[in-house]
Amino acid sequence: MKPLLFIETYGCQMNFADSEILVSLLKDRYDTTDNYADADLILVNTCSIRDHAEQRVLNRLKEFTSLKKKHQGLKVGLVGCMAERLKEQLLESELAIDLVVGPDAYRSLPALLDEVEAGSKGIDVLLSESETYQDIEPVRLGSNKVSAFISIMRGCQNYCAYCVVPYTRGKERSREGQTIVNEARKLFEQGYREVTLLGQNVNSYRAGDLDFAGLMRLVAEIDPALRVRFSTSHPKDLSDSLIEVMAAYPNICKNIHLPVQSGSSAMLAKMKRKYDREWYLERVSALRKRIPDCGISTDIIAGFCGETEQDHEQTLSLMREVGYDFAFMFKYSDRPGTFAHKNYADDVSEEVKLRRLNQIIDLQQQLSHQSNRRDVGKTFEILVEGVSKKDKQRFFGRNSQNKVIVFDNPALPNGEFKVRVGDYVKVEVKECTAATLLGALV
Ligand code: SAH
Ligand code: SF4
Ligand code: F3S
Repeated sequence: MKPLLFIETYGCQMNFADSEILVSLLKDRYDTTDNYADADLILVNTCSIRDHAEQRVLNRLKEFTSLKKKHQGLKVGLVGCMAERLKEQLLESELAIDLVVGPDAYRSLPALLDEVEAGSKGIDVLLSESETYQDIEPVRLGSNKVSAFISIMRGCQNYCAYCVVPYTRGKERSREGQTIVNEARKLFEQGYREVTLLGQNVNSYRAGDLDFAGLMRLVAEIDPALRVRFSTSHPKDLSDSLIEVMAAYPNICKNIHLPVQSGSSAMLAKMKRKYDREWYLERVSALRKRIPDCGISTDIIAGFCGETEQDHEQTLSLMREVGYDFAFMFKYSDRPGTFAHKNYADDVSEEVKLRRLNQIIDLQQQLSHQSNRRDVGKTFEILVEGVSKKDKQRFFGRNSQNKVIVFDNPALPNGEFKVRVGDYVKVEVKECTAATLLGALV
């Protein structure tokens, strides 16, 4: 029997995709376990995007440090963005960490583990300009066998003033198109029905002559029964050709995550987002014109450096104007090393940040509820993804717009269900809350 690996993942979808690569790189040495108390190696795949994300990991590492006292031989490794940002700092702390490996150095894990087993500590935080792990077949860790992530690029060099990602993930680089298409086709053959193409800024994907719209076309043509999603797109690069491809293929989901960050052009300039309010609204209207039913979600930062009450009001008004279906909303968190940290004062008080964030959250709650109410009475095709935790007769899936719809799926007399996970079915929406739609099979 092989020793056991427990991996815990924080942060964005790209980190989840990376954990699947990590497990693949270690599969000859370790089996995985869902219970960290049984593990011989614990890897914590971490995120540095906000201070809060790092604090959560530090607390967790304290827990693992005390576990090591009980469990002789347990090794703990820090991987991902915090490993890259903090480098040897945590190896030298009172936390019992054996291994620190940055996002581009995962191939050196087996060699580093040898060093650790020989009694020393292992560290590799070199960033690469070419590593994409495109030849590694991820071990799928997702909760269903219907939907999978495919990382199509790594890194980011947009250097938004507030953001740590360019420092933790290095230069932008894209995978060869054919490796992506092959991975998606293989997933489809294994029964998967949805792939999400991932990158910090998928619109700037480029491999030789292939751009993102071209790649989407290739993936969409694998099979009409394979849904294609993507995340995240940067508003500055939302091209007409991408909108056209989205409109042209029914299996490309009608949903876009388009982080705006702020509704104030002054703030956007300070954030170095390379677009302004007008540009953003024009892109949204181009999208809506071509794809009227497109779901739109966003990310918003409250209380960035120098944000005035008027700037904040502009964020609220932009939210109303777009009428987002969904949003991730954050308080600005100053990150060491970033342009904002070096050049601006983090001068919006904690109290004001919190109040503005709460106003943003309350407004989004209303907008999400309105968006859901507009769907009551409509019929959607959904891809069934799982069984509701609370009620085994209830299943759920998502529509093209990425909304979750829950529906009754009574067991047949033979004990089987009429509708199975991985099926496409039509449901009519009967009721809603701000968070979910309740439907009935048509
Ligand atoms: N590449 C994506 C964003 C990735 S980070 C894009 O450019 O759209 C995910 C989100 O975290 C960002 O959209 C932003 O809203 C938030 N974020 C990033 N840095 C932050 C910081 N320092 N404080 C608060 N939120 C931050
Ligand atoms: Fe960060 Fe900007 Fe890159 Fe997104 S585009 S990851 S916000 S630097
Ligand atoms: Fe976090 Fe790194 Fe992703 S900082 S958001 S895990 S790229």
